[in-house]
Amino acid sequence: MRIDIITVLPELLESPLSHSIMKRARDKGLLEVNLIPLRDYATDKHRCVDDYQYGGGAGMVMMCEPLANCIEHLQAQRNYDEVIYMTPDGKTLNQKMLNAFSLQENLMLICGHYKGIDERIRQLFVTQEISIGDYVLSGGELAAAVFTDGVGRLLPGVLNDETSALTDSFQDNLLSPPVYTRPEVFRNLRVPEVLLSGHERKIQEWRYEQAIERTQQRRPDLLAD
Ligand code: 6GU
Repeated sequence: MRIDIITVLPELLESPLSHSIMKRARDKGLLEVNLIPLRDYATDKHRCVDDYQYGGGAGMVMMCEPLANCIEHLQAQRNYDEVIYMTPDGKTLNQKMLNAFSLQENLMLICGHYKGIDERIRQLFVTQEISIGDYVLSGGELAAAVFTDGVGRLLPGVLNDETSALTDSFQDNLLSPPVYTRPEVFRNLRVPEVLLSGHERKIQEWRYEQAIERTQQRRPDLLAD
């Protein structure tokens, strides 16, 4: 899969997408991430990409021309399954959406800044608008990093244990059960006996019960779905 990310701050995305599982996905050639500096597509010598908003009011707006030039330059090279604008007024991202996006070949992400992008770019080019939650970030970059990480780890061959994405929280609308490692007793707290039993079926049952209980206590809304 290829993800092209249009941004005024490529530096902000560099590190989160260059370590751990994302690094492995990219090193293996399973995920290609390209950071495209929007300022390279500015039309003036100051490399300006934002301007005052019509009608007045505080906050700048990302201009049409640099974005249109950049998007069209990319679209001339390949077909994109989706052109995604990262914005707090988009659809709230969830695991089901990530699963669906992980099946795509080419995605383009646009990171908003300031008051957002000119509405006409949304009308003309954007096919999906995504938020990562009901709060406001300074720009779309961290949200784009969240999206890319969430999708990238689902690509076949990225995780070591092929089954491990299947047992993540949310994959079956349940939170994950508690997990333990050595030692068997820590500060007087024991690892649940069943996990030491070696009884595979009982362990699976216990984990399922714990997942249900945890979900009931913390996220009853997931069980209602
Ligand atoms: Cl995608 N962008 C910004 N700027 N803030 C957000 C967001 C996106 N999702 C939640 N808050």
